[in-house]
Amino acid sequence: MASIELKSVEKWYGEAQVIKGVDLAIEEGEFIIFVGPSGCGKSTLLRMIAGLEETSRGQIMIGATDATAEPPARRGLAMVFQSYALYPHMSVRDNMGFSLRAAGVPRAEMDAKVDEAARVLKLEPLLDRRPKDLSGGQRQRVAIGRSIVRDPTAFLFDEPLSNLDAALRVEMRYEIAKLHQSLKSTMIYVTHDQVEAMTLADRIVVLEAGRVSQVGSPRELYERPGNLFVAQFIGSPKMNVFAATTPELRLPAPLPRTAAHFGIRPEHIALGAAGSGQIDGTVDVLEYLGADTYVIADCGSAGKLTIRAHGDTGLAPGQPVGLKFEDGQTHLFDGDGLAIRQGRSDRAVF
Ligand SMILES: Nc1ncnc2c1ncn2[C@@H]1O[C@H](COP(=O)(O)OP(=O)(O)OP(=O)(O)O)[C@@H](O)[C@H]1O
Ligand SMILES: [Mg+2]
Repeated sequence: MASIELKSVEKWYGEAQVIKGVDLAIEEGEFIIFVGPSGCGKSTLLRMIAGLEETSRGQIMIGATDATAEPPARRGLAMVFQSYALYPHMSVRDNMGFSLRAAGVPRAEMDAKVDEAARVLKLEPLLDRRPKDLSGGQRQRVAIGRSIVRDPTAFLFDEPLSNLDAALRVEMRYEIAKLHQSLKSTMIYVTHDQVEAMTLADRIVVLEAGRVSQVGSPRELYERPGNLFVAQFIGSPKMNVFAATTPELRLPAPLPRTAAHFGIRPEHIALGAAGSGQIDGTVDVLEYLGADTYVIADCGSAGKLTIRAHGDTGLAPGQPVGLKFEDGQTHLFDGDGLAIRQGRSDRAVF
């Protein structure tokens, strides 16, 4: 296990700067998740930590060691990719032990490590099979097992579950959470999946165009996003945002003069009769999902707002509704998109 620290890390490809000065201190045993839109630099940053990409500027510390110029093999990290790349002609056992055998580890020791990893990953009944006889989730577990046997100082995962179907992703998400609980290793994990990020992370790092937009626990990012980008990136369906000067808004007190954007999450709006709540709308579309219904309402100059209602709403398109914003759950942002902190709750209060 090791702590990992990035100090003013930059990556340039010729004239193009892809990572624009990232500072990040990862504690020993922490589960860190990188999220951000496609092309924001998640994989590049992970590969720089692994040593698969050269660091153009700045420093990468692993434990007390400056690893910036160390080759991947000397960093003691294990990387698990989206594609499992197992050896098709080898058994699961041989695939998992391959790196140990290549390093000249004695057979008995290798078998013991493979057996232990197979136990953790519930692969014991499959050790004699070939990869082609496994499901996608089982193959991904073998790929993880291959990295566990090396006792890495930290695990680096780049979208390891994105090739799996929805049900398998849920199962593997659980397995990875259990793995972190039992190994207590430092893990850095890249994903596009909101649910993976929210459920697995101790802290989420939101990247935007090569920069860290905000770092915090899932709860901090959800409750107190520092800017509009994070506010709309974390949470699904995403936060409704409209001009703070919207004339149709019925607020009990004037907003601070710096407020340019008003934000409210779909789950923090209740529906009532037209004329009640903070703004009126007309039901445009109903998205019935069983447990929830997403109601998209046309709210004049505030635009289309999404409301997350429980079960079946009994509403119909064209029906007028009043939208009531939950107390203390509204967000304000200034003209630069930065959150305006208000009072103790850090959120707008009315
Ligand atoms: N060898 C390269 N030369 C020039 N630009 C590169 C190179 N490799 C990556 N890039 C650019 O660096 C940026 C970051 O790429 P990266 O693969 O890190 O994104 P990402 O956040 O992992 O995206 P995705 O979610 O699509 O996997 C992209 O704009 C990409 O085009
Ligand atoms: Mg990537």
